[in-house]
Amino acid sequence: MTVRLVIDTDTAADDCFALLAGLLHPQAKLEAVTVVAGNVAFDQQVTNALLTIEVAGRGGEVPVHRGCERPLLREWVSAEYVHGIDGRGGGEFAGPKQTADPEHAVDALLRLADRYPGELVIVAIGPLTNIASAVVRDRDFSRKVKALYVMGGANNGRGNITAAAEFNFYVDPEAARIVLGAGFTTTIVTWTLTVRQAVFDRVRLAEIEALDTPLSRFFTTVNGPTLAFDEKVGIGGSTHPDALTCLIALEPALVTRSAPYFVTVETQGELTRGYSLFDWGVFGRLANATVVEEIDGDAFYAAMTRLLTGSGGASPAEPGAPSRPEGGAIQ
Ligand code: RIB
Ligand code: CA
Repeated sequence: MTVRLVIDTDTAADDCFALLAGLLHPQAKLEAVTVVAGNVAFDQQVTNALLTIEVAGRGGEVPVHRGCERPLLREWVSAEYVHGIDGRGGGEFAGPKQTADPEHAVDALLRLADRYPGELVIVAIGPLTNIASAVVRDRDFSRKVKALYVMGGANNGRGNITAAAEFNFYVDPEAARIVLGAGFTTTIVTWTLTVRQAVFDRVRLAEIEALDTPLSRFFTTVNGPTLAFDEKVGIGGSTHPDALTCLIALEPALVTRSAPYFVTVETQGELTRGYSLFDWGVFGRLANATVVEEIDGDAFYAAMTRLLTGSGGASPAEPGAPSRPEGGAIQ
């Protein structure tokens, strides 16, 4: 079944690969990309989104909307030390001909939810500032959206920007709290799951490099700084939380175990800013999210490599699925 998608992104590194999934997967009908403050400088993120669309061979087909350029209450915190200053590994790719759409991301989200009530699936892979702003603008927004997939938080596990917090929830904890309390049908992909099952080790990365397609070369270049950082902090490869979140929205069978949780975010703590509370249901609070606890890691990797071979991500289970053209040239 076709998934009518919006990807809300702080476009750098793995966000680019999530965009490739939204752009090339045969189940995806990507209506818009909305950009939010997060990983790297805002304008750089917008450029990265436009470049990714170009590299995927979809230039001019999917609008990119500039969204909130800082968190609701806090100063912007970047992850340039993880993904590099440009968030694309210093890669010089053919400049995008497409420019950003003049409509603000929050307006685009509200418009698309009105236009496709009960149909729109939002994949939110950055801080939740744009989504929270849409919630505040329209009290019915969460009811109009079919499903929200969030990359964020740590399921009673370690954070990645502090010991207590995962980056997306840390950057805008107030927004995360608003969104988690807004009544969406929410699925959460955590950092805890990411380090367990969404890591591509050197063997897999060499396989991707050996594909030697324009998209695999794009992947290898853009992924470089994240791989270097992840290995430095003791992870055995590069982490792919955003690509996983998008692919789960498109291929729910990737999830092999999930459970209902009550999830909220700490906004007051001195040492625990952005800490995510994952309450598994024995303390009397009603669940507000489905949390992904386990995936088929081999199937996730296979789905990624299908995208990067330029075959359009058609899974073996869907032999009749249409393929997309291979991505454009990288210079
Ligand atoms: O914590 C992981 C998240 O923060 C991902 O969305 C990634 O883009 C990042 O920097
Ligand atoms: Ca992200």
